[in-house]
Amino acid sequence: MQVKQGQGFETLDATWKSLVEKAIAIRQRAYAPYSNFNVGVSILGADGKTYEGCNIETVGYNNSLHAEMVAIGKMVSGGCQKPERVAVVTEAPEAIFPCGFCRQYLYEFGGTTKVLAVQLSTQKWLETRLSELLPGSFMREHVGK
Ligand code: THU
Ligand code: ZN
Repeated sequence: MQVKQGQGFETLDATWKSLVEKAIAIRQRAYAPYSNFNVGVSILGADGKTYEGCNIETVGYNNSLHAEMVAIGKMVSGGCQKPERVAVVTEAPEAIFPCGFCRQYLYEFGGTTKVLAVQLSTQKWLETRLSELLPGSFMREHVGK
C-alpha cells in the first residue's frame, strides 16, 4: 500500500489543514459514551463544499453511526456525490484509516479520493488513496451497473 506520512499540521497543504481543523471541531460533538472513542471527519466534495461528521453510538453497541458515514450522508443529501478528500481525526494510538465498512461506502462515490488519517495529540498523519485501502474492491460493474 502506498502511504505518505508526516508529523505536524504545518507539513500539510492548506486544503488538508482546513479539513483537519473542521474534523477536529466536529469530533467534539461525537456521541460515544460506550467506546469513548471519538472520531471526526471532514469531506471536501467536488462541489467545493465540506461535509463534516462525528460518530454516534447507542446502548445497542453494534449499530453505531461511524463518523465517515455521517459525513457521507451529509454530502449526498447535500447534493454532492464526489468526495475529493477525506480527513479522519482520532486519538487512537496511531493515525487510523476508515474501517472496511466505511471504505466500501466511500468507494461507492469515488476510488480516487484522497484519505488523510490524523492522530490528534501527536499530529502524526498518514495519507493514501481510497483505491489503496480497498484493492480488488466489489464494484458496481460487478452487478452490471
Ligand atoms: N468508528 C468510526 O466512526 N469510524 C470508523 O471507521 C471506525 C469506528 C467509531 C464507531 C464507534 O463509535 C467507535 O468508533 C469505536 O469503534
Ligand atoms: Zn467505519
